[in-house]
Order: sequence, then structure tokens, then C-alpha cells
Amino acid sequence: MQRLQGKTILITGATSGLGKAMAHRFAEEGASIAAVGRSRERGERLAEELAVRFPANRARFFPCDLTDADAIAELREEVAASGFAIDILVNNAGVFQTYLLEEITPEAYDHVFRINVGAAIFMTQAFIAELCERHGNILNVASIGGLQSHIAGSRQYLYAPSKAALIEFSQLCAKNYAKSIRVNCLCPGPNDTPIYENKDFSRILPSIPMGRMGQPIDVARAACFLVSEEASYITGAVLTVDGGSSI
Ligand SMILES: NC(=O)c1ccc[n+]([C@@H]2O[C@H](COP(=O)([O-])OP(=O)(O)OC[C@H]3O[C@@H](n4cnc5c(N)ncnc54)[C@H](OP(=O)(O)O)[C@@H]3O)[C@@H](O)[C@H]2O)c1
Repeated sequence: MQRLQGKTILITGATSGLGKAMAHRFAEEGASIAAVGRSRERGERLAEELAVRFPANRARFFPCDLTDADAIAELREEVAASGFAIDILVNNAGVFQTYLLEEITPEAYDHVFRINVGAAIFMTQAFIAELCERHGNILNVASIGGLQSHIAGSRQYLYAPSKAALIEFSQLCAKNYAKSIRVNCLCPGPNDTPIYENKDFSRILPSIPMGRMGQPIDVARAACFLVSEEASYITGAVLTVDGGSSI
């Protein structure tokens, strides 16, 4: 029996990196996928790849700019109208924008918090009733950068607090909705995805005890466990997937 047989999973930021790997991994375990992102080209391509690899499951791309709360409300309608009833919501979309303190502008602040925290808040608000009705679960993708134990870097003034807020939001939801749904949080360490424009990882590698960058499949495997029934008594967890970086 596949672990996610019959489940429908909405993944934000599915057009790239970790989200794309999760889409493939979840579909491999029998899930239908509602993939959300902005890039139509990459989104449609993902839906086609999934349809070819897993013809028994449904896969569809829903374009949405998640910084726009009205667009999220429209997305919810569109997903429902397409016959997708969401069992599992994965709030994964995010940006890694780093600034020295003196470089931060109100626009940069608004953008980073809008996508890294706001998108998860408004997506949760939009889908919470359906998730509770279906006794589903939520997985939020934060970062080790948001952990108190991992305060580091001179350019993390927006990214780290945004991910810390997402961790806190996850745990609040986990506690308040525990009778109906599970809510967990993944904290990846450095992963080789398009989020890094500079692919020279020589400065990062010494800080990773396991001695290698994470690959998207590492995160996708952990995510698959947390959203599946194998994690049936786990809620409010903050799981690091980081090769030991946060030790
Ligand atoms: N890679 C790492 O080392 C690492 C480490 C810790 C945490 N994380 C977290 O993991 C998550 C995924 O990161 P990744 O490495 O896979 O990054 P990525 O390859 O750059 O992918 C980011 C995804 O977010 C989507 N996105 C960004 N802004 C959006 C917006 N306004 N509306 C809708 N979608 C938007 C992008 O979609 P479009 O391009 O289609 O807009 C893309 O699918 C992020 O939250 C990131 O902070 C990553």
C-alpha cells in the first residue's frame, strides 16, 4: 500500500527545488498533486511530468502570486472548482533574500514577510475548514535559519525572523487545531536548489557536519513521513533536515 494513496496534496512553490521534489515524492506514494507557483512554464511542465510518471494520480498546476491575499482567495475557489479536495497543505514557497541591516527597505521587508510568512498564514486561513473537515494536515517549510539555536549570519535580518515567525505560526496552529488536524514544520539546512544563485558552496560546506549539501530528495523524504499516517501522533514538531548543521 502506498503511503499517500487517495490523498490530495496542495504544494506551494512546487515549480522549483524542494517543492518540485516533494511533488514527485508524494505522487510516487499515490498522492494527487495541486501544484502552486508563479511560473506557468515550470508549473505546466511539472504537471505533465507527473501525469506521465503517475498516470493514476491527478496533477494540475494552479498559477498564483502568493503575496496577494485576494489571489489566494481566488486560488481556493479555482482548486475547489477543479474537483480537488485538499487533504494536505504544504506551505513551501519562500524567498532567500539577504541584506545587511542598513540595506533593508520597507519594500524588501514587505516582500520577504509577505511570501515567507504571509503566504502560509493566508493559505492556512483559506484551506483550514476543508483540512479540518477531512482530518488532514499541514506542513510548513521554514529553515534552520529560523531556529533560536542557529542565530548566525550578518545578512539574515529579514530571512531568519521570517522563518522564526513561520515556526511559531505552525506551533500555534498545531495547538489550536489539534483535535482536527496535525501541523508540523520542517527546517531544512542548506540544499542545492535554484534558491542559491551562487553555486559555489565552498563557504557553506565546512559548517555541515555530514560534509555535503542537502539534496531536495532529502527534504522530500522527511516531508513524506510527516504528512503521512506514519506520523499520526506527531503535531507541532519542528524537524531539522540539515546534515547536522544545527547541532
Ligand atoms: N534551499 C535551501 O537551502 C533552503 C534551506 C532552508 C529552507 N528553505 C526553504 O525551502 C523553501 C523552498 O526553497 P527552494 O530551495 O526550493 O527554493 P526555490 O528553488 O527558489 O523555489 C522557491 C519556490 O517558491 C515559489 N515562490 C516564490 N515566490 C512566490 C510567490 N510570490 N508566489 C508564489 N510562489 C512563489 C517559487 O515559484 P515561482 O518561481 O514559480 O514563482 C518556487 O517554486 C523556501 O521556503 C525556502 O526558504 C530552503
